[in-house]
Amino acid sequence: MTDKIIIAIDGFASTGKSTLAKRLAKHLNYIYVDSGSMYRAITYYALTNNYLPFNDTNLSDFSKKLPSIKLNFVFNSNLGYSEIFLNGNNVEKEIRSIEVSNHVSSVATVSFIRKHMVNLQKEISLNKGVVMDGRDIGSVVFPNAELKLFLNASAEVRAKRRHSEYIKQNVNVDYSEVLNNLKTRDLDDSNRHDSPLIVANDAIEIDNSFMTINEQLIFVKNILKDKFNL
Ligand code: DC
Repeated sequence: MTDKIIIAIDGFASTGKSTLAKRLAKHLNYIYVDSGSMYRAITYYALTNNYLPFNDTNLSDFSKKLPSIKLNFVFNSNLGYSEIFLNGNNVEKEIRSIEVSNHVSSVATVSFIRKHMVNLQKEISLNKGVVMDGRDIGSVVFPNAELKLFLNASAEVRAKRRHSEYIKQNVNVDYSEVLNNLKTRDLDDSNRHDSPLIVANDAIEIDNSFMTINEQLIFVKNILKDKFNL
């Protein structure tokens, strides 16, 4: 039997990390973990429980609360991947709102929150056989991941893709708002002090601005076959 590996997929916002990760997980029969959804769920919790904006007092309260906030991934066989539950409730839809998107990068700068998330991510992945996407997966969470991918695409292409997703979901948001949100998050994610978004030096960079989802998938499947016999 071939040994299971860890695949770390990092990159800028809306570069198609989760689409690629889900398909690779399905192809290999691995677990898919969307680490961004964990930061989003914590942000959603903070928003709905009036912790935001953080200040010294409520941040200290939040640090005491954090260990009791339950995050789980539950496999949805209809979808073929896991969905995130916050304190027992499926929050997949709620965490994708533009309000959560506007706050999540600042929540993700808080070191005690990152430490807690990284511990959970390592716990989930103890048996390997995991495809995890995020911003610090190849650099911080799994510096020894067997395969690291870093996705990129132009901001305009990414905003167009994200905007059409919103339109499909009947969410009324301007293209310019989506573009601004992406650019702000890219800046926040790249410049934060703790675990900034960086290209790990052993990561394979893929610019998918002009690639289809399928072309990218075939490209990575070939790497899996050539390098890992998977
Ligand atoms: O992948 P996403 O866009 O759903 O992630 C939401 C935010 O969470 C992103 O702007 C930065 C943060 N994040 C992070 O800091 N580290 C991760 N591993 C994943 C996401």
